[in-house]
Amino acid sequence: MNRTTGNETKDPYRLKLHLTPPAGWLNDPNGLCQYHGTYHAFYQYVPENALGKGRKCWGHAVSSDLIHWKDEGIFLEPDRPFDRDGVYSGCAWTDENGIHLFYTGNVKEEGDYDYIHEGRQAAQVLVETKDGSRAGEKRLLLTNDDYPKDCTLHVRDPKVWKENGRYHMVLGARKNSGQGAVLLYESADMVTWKYVGEMTTKNPFGYMWECPDCFEMEDAAFLSICPQGLPRGEFQNQNIYQSGYVRLKAGIARPQMVEAEAFTEWDKGFDFYAPQTFTDEQGRRILIGWMGLPDIEGEYSNPTVGDGWQHALTLPREITYEAGRLYQRPVEELKRLRRNEREVKTGETSVLSEGIYEVEIDKIEINQKDIDQKDIDQKDINGLEPVSCRICFNQDLVLDYQDGVFSMKFLNRTGAGRTVRRAEIGSLEDIRIIMDTSAIEVYVNQGSTVFTSRYYPASGESRVMIDCEKSRIRLWDLESV
Ligand code: FRU
Repeated sequence: MNRTTGNETKDPYRLKLHLTPPAGWLNDPNGLCQYHGTYHAFYQYVPENALGKGRKCWGHAVSSDLIHWKDEGIFLEPDRPFDRDGVYSGCAWTDENGIHLFYTGNVKEEGDYDYIHEGRQAAQVLVETKDGSRAGEKRLLLTNDDYPKDCTLHVRDPKVWKENGRYHMVLGARKNSGQGAVLLYESADMVTWKYVGEMTTKNPFGYMWECPDCFEMEDAAFLSICPQGLPRGEFQNQNIYQSGYVRLKAGIARPQMVEAEAFTEWDKGFDFYAPQTFTDEQGRRILIGWMGLPDIEGEYSNPTVGDGWQHALTLPREITYEAGRLYQRPVEELKRLRRNEREVKTGETSVLSEGIYEVEIDKIEINQKDIDQKDIDQKDINGLEPVSCRICFNQDLVLDYQDGVFSMKFLNRTGAGRTVRRAEIGSLEDIRIIMDTSAIEVYVNQGSTVFTSRYYPASGESRVMIDCEKSRIRLWDLESV
């Protein structure tokens, strides 16, 4: 990519395919929905500060195809006593009366709210809008008095749905005992809510569960959570905070014990957190995540801060349930951006002037003998061992597969654990890569494993070299949106 021409010199890492804040800071996707054809993505937003220091608002963007987004500015601001320190995360429920938005109003007070039931006010609030152009009055639904006393006041991020004529709400929570949980509420009218119980694990599985989501795929029920405080493993939970899902044995609207062993991470990459799902008007289950992570003690930041903004949302992904597991694929609409299809030979370097492209490697037949036959002593220029399949980007980012393990490695990066992420995937069937100006999404084996990361190429050009014998390798430029 040429960074020396036109406006790009000013903001070279501005993403072309992903939703970014016009200026300032973005975190969680909120209120995702489709209403009368229009997709709405709200998001946690601090317009005046790219480091997120300030009061959280809801930003708003609309789209007719999940790919081309138009920014609509601030939708909700902290302007009431019960949300004075932030309009925190929440969701949307749509019906014939419009869009019903639920969020957490955050109020900071003196006191240690990490362990006891004081020091913060966490209000759950409803705002209605006919079409997303103007917000109605904020209605207070739940306050501190409505949460179980064995919970701290880390209670937030409502997700609401309707089942059998009743509304259900899940809230992420931290118990006094330092255990993550989800609180379940029910309502007949979306206004009066009654506590019905919790979902948690037998033994602590992280101290806090943020951004819960419940959904069904055919006959299977799932709970998505963002647990904080899980120990880091070589193949699991490699980021500071996690997000993943478990299957719920007793259905989505019932209090129950959750099996921690069944937790599956949504994404194995460096930059992924706080996803939310919704069903669109075609009946597809779509997931969008925050392509970022909470910044713990200033360890994590992106060079775009210098250009006055930080973070992005992931591409919208369709979730499917096949043979007992969940798959994620970029929504079909993304394929409309493909231009100049070409087939690439293994070992060949492709130079891409725009740096926005898609790679698909399929029909992969990896045979262990292929790798054994290579000269094991011969390391390549980056000191990498030969592997069965490798994709090098500008010699500073490498994806590879060997012996059932798929890895994403940054060769020139240090600090904050930003060097390698690994996943045990079994055999390798196919890889699909979407590369944006400063972000990469890698879908392995039809999206049964995904790696998402920000990526800031060191060189001025985009080069990709794919070494994967016995496969078909195709490449497309992607039209910038
Ligand atoms: C997750 C989160 C939510 C909260 C929001 C505040 O990233 O911490 O729990 O509502 O961000 O911006």
